[in-house]
Amino acid sequence: MEGGSIKIKRLDKINEHKLLEIARVIAEYTFPGMNILLYGDLGTGKTTFTKGFIRSYLGDEEINVTSPTFALVRIYENSVKIYHADLYRLSDPEEIPYVGLFDDSDGIYLIEWPERLEYYMPDEYLKIQLYYNENIEYRDIEISYVGEKYEKTFEKIKEELQ
Ligand SMILES: Nc1ncnc2c1ncn2[C@@H]1O[C@H](COP(=O)(O)OP(=O)(O)OP(=O)(O)O)[C@@H](O)[C@H]1O
Ligand SMILES: [Mg+2]
Repeated sequence: MEGGSIKIKRLDKINEHKLLEIARVIAEYTFPGMNILLYGDLGTGKTTFTKGFIRSYLGDEEINVTSPTFALVRIYENSVKIYHADLYRLSDPEEIPYVGLFDDSDGIYLIEWPERLEYYMPDEYLKIQLYYNENIEYRDIEISYVGEKYEKTFEKIKEELQ
């Protein structure tokens, strides 16, 4: 690969409270048009992360954030809109243009099960990969990115999450 190392920030033994904190830090360094792809098996914490992110971004700790499984995408209205997608039940990537993903170039997109995007995968994104830890109260997390415009954000997040 041209230009050196792959950059990954790894955080191990993260309890639920800490995961919400991490989401909060990431929300602080979010910019309009950002794609956040959430990878991980069922129940690893993708929606939990999203809840922490949205509550922090909107400054509203009471807001209810659940998986938009039926609608696939739920929109949180704000000056910069947040689009929360759960694509687990997406049967065909051809549906993507009809569910309202990526139409808003200023929107922030949080996407669970991004594998389902296939050829609609964005070119540039922040990647959050969640893994089960041997202790059921913990998760292991890897944060990485693709695309130059995410570099600064990633470095900031890395600094904050020492
Ligand atoms: N360290 C942890 N981080 C996140 N969630 C945790 C942790 N420990 C326990 N949990 C629990 O694990 C569950 C995670 O569920 P969540 O809905 O966030 O997962 P998900 O990855 O979105 O799953 P799905 O693929 O079904 O959408 C919650 O019930 C949460 O309370
Ligand atoms: Mg979920």
